[in-house]
Amino acid sequence: MSTTATLTIDGQAYEFPLIKGTENERAIDIKTLRSSTNGIITIDPGYKNTGSCESAITFLDGENGILRYRGYTIEELAEKADFLEVAYLLIFGELPNEETLKKFHNDIKKESVVDEEIKKIIHAFPKSAHPMGVISSLTSTLTAFNPSSVDVSSDEAIYNSIVRILGKFPVLVAWTMRKRQGLPLDYGDNSLGYVENILKMMFKRPDEEYVMNKKVVDALDKLLILHADHEQNCSTSTVRMVGSSHAGLFVSLSAGISALWGPLHGGANQAVIEMLEGIRADGGDTKKYMAKAKDKNDPFRLMGFGHRVYKNFDPRAKIIKKSADEVLGDLGVVDPVLDVAKGLEKEALEDPYFVDRKLYPNVDFYSGIIYRALGIPTEMFTVMFALGRLPGWIAQWREMRLRKEPIGRPRQVYIGANKRDFVPIEER
Ligand code: ACO
Repeated sequence: MSTTATLTIDGQAYEFPLIKGTENERAIDIKTLRSSTNGIITIDPGYKNTGSCESAITFLDGENGILRYRGYTIEELAEKADFLEVAYLLIFGELPNEETLKKFHNDIKKESVVDEEIKKIIHAFPKSAHPMGVISSLTSTLTAFNPSSVDVSSDEAIYNSIVRILGKFPVLVAWTMRKRQGLPLDYGDNSLGYVENILKMMFKRPDEEYVMNKKVVDALDKLLILHADHEQNCSTSTVRMVGSSHAGLFVSLSAGISALWGPLHGGANQAVIEMLEGIRADGGDTKKYMAKAKDKNDPFRLMGFGHRVYKNFDPRAKIIKKSADEVLGDLGVVDPVLDVAKGLEKEALEDPYFVDRKLYPNVDFYSGIIYRALGIPTEMFTVMFALGRLPGWIAQWREMRLRKEPIGRPRQVYIGANKRDFVPIEER
């Protein structure tokens, strides 16, 4: 197997090393391309063929539907681990033992209070503000209240920033939701597990005891694990890009949250439920919407279908579909949109348009149905995705810092006007 690739330009051959990852993925290392070829660069809109970094965090094989965090399969982690263990694994590279996990959790708990002044900021947002805009702003705002978090010059400082955001982010998530519902902005209960505490913070009513439901805890744990990392997707690349300028962790995460919001990325989970509701309200005619999705003159897309990397199936979607059936059954919830979803999936999987383009349900197709069964409002779905993705973003940001990666600064091929003379306004 060759170890170099040869590129011939204007009759001259240039050699570039071929590098190989631990799962035998191969890449042409073009670090010296521009300098050795006197200015030639590559162009690859959407980075469909471009590796932006070497990473030891997540392995994804889209052709074979494989997803592993630090070598462990997503199927095994979803079944056997809890979210905090997975967060530790992603960020620090190994599964924690009981003692390490306890210390990690205790360090997070010590950071689970946010400055009371932040309540004033939350109250200044209109109730109608989209929670993703609110949570992105609040995450960035945390920098102002924790100025030392900007210093990430040592391992200790990085660790402190990490436990701080893992402690405070769930509070911000809960408060963002509660503000919309007119509920008091309360704190959690540090005697609880990480995910249990999140649920209590979100759902505790001022006039009732919060009764923990193990099935709800398990369902949320699993959803968060399934969302925890997905290598160099749009939001993660954003976090790494912003962090590469040596901006602090919180603002890098805030930028990632904004990237996640888009309906082609994490915002798809909200869009899926709205689409399913729309189809149901329109009489449930899935064939009509299949036709719209295939019509190139119609902007409608089947939300929750297709993926940039998975061209076989999304392993997370398989687990979530099974989980949706179980959770709804366990909680005794009957959700008619589940039938619409199953109907659409069945038709799409048999339709040549979807089969030829290798379009399969992605992680977002069924996740909203579970969130809904757990009582989470539709506009909060993408925030829940961000909560799950937090450890992945942190792990990727930390890796980027520890590997001392250069500032991200792509080039371009200019296609604008050539040099021309300025024309005074009265002569235009
Ligand atoms: N419905 C209908 N047609 C689709 C869909 C869809 N959901 N997805 C892709 N296609 C078609 C495209 O029109 C295109 O057809 P063409 O070859 O005839 O022009 C072909 O399939 C390839 O699609 P691209 O948009 O080029 O694929 P890309 O890799 O750029 O996009 C994406 C992937 C953004 C996920 C796309 O499939 C999509 O928009 N899906 C719906 C939104 C969604 O569910 N996003 C969540 C993704 S998972 C996540 O981010 C967590």
